[in-house]
Amino acid sequence: MPTIRKATLEDLVDISNIIKNNLDVPELSVQPSQHDQLIPFIDRGQYYVAVDDNHIVGAMSLVIGEQSCEIYTIASQQPGCGRLLVKHAEALCKEQHIPKIWCWSFERYHAQGFYKKMGFEESLLMRKQWFGEDCYIFGKVIR
Ligand SMILES: CC(C)(COP(=O)(O)OP(=O)(O)OC[C@H]1O[C@@H](n2cnc3c(N)ncnc32)[C@H](O)[C@@H]1OP(=O)(O)O)[C@@H](O)C(=O)NCCC(=O)NCCS
Repeated sequence: MPTIRKATLEDLVDISNIIKNNLDVPELSVQPSQHDQLIPFIDRGQYYVAVDDNHIVGAMSLVIGEQSCEIYTIASQQPGCGRLLVKHAEALCKEQHIPKIWCWSFERYHAQGFYKKMGFEESLLMRKQWFGEDCYIFGKVIR
């Protein structure tokens, strides 16, 4: 059973690979030379990894504000890890009395079913929202 922990700089290459393999936006693709995009998130304690048998099988970054938590990146390459990562983010929200969790997702990722299963009751499809692409915004009130 995978566990979730905060990422460290030693996880950089594994996180990059997971992002590259699962999120294919050229502007966001993480090359080894572009690790500096990830480092500030890791330094601020905003990156989390799902680890199974010493292998990183999922990654998630969060932007936590005063009243909301954005899932900035999420990628899983092992069924069940997406749920664990989102549940972890929700637990952090509860601890910190943050009432809202939300995220953007390109329509072509077809992730609506996933967020629906995670209890995200709010969704809005925005046309040509990001890099000229159609995007959903998904939201959930933390209870
Ligand atoms: C979306 C993603 C994070 C889901 O992670 P995962 O580990 O496959 O998800 P889980 O196995 O924990 O899924 C939880 C439930 O959602 C369902 N589910 C997962 N992805 C789904 C999808 N795309 N459509 C419909 N249902 C989905 C699962 O079947 C499971 O259902 P169950 O409770 O009946 O068993 C993963 O597929 C991924 O990395 N995709 C590419 C990147 C991406 O789309 N990121 C999200 C948008 S930013």
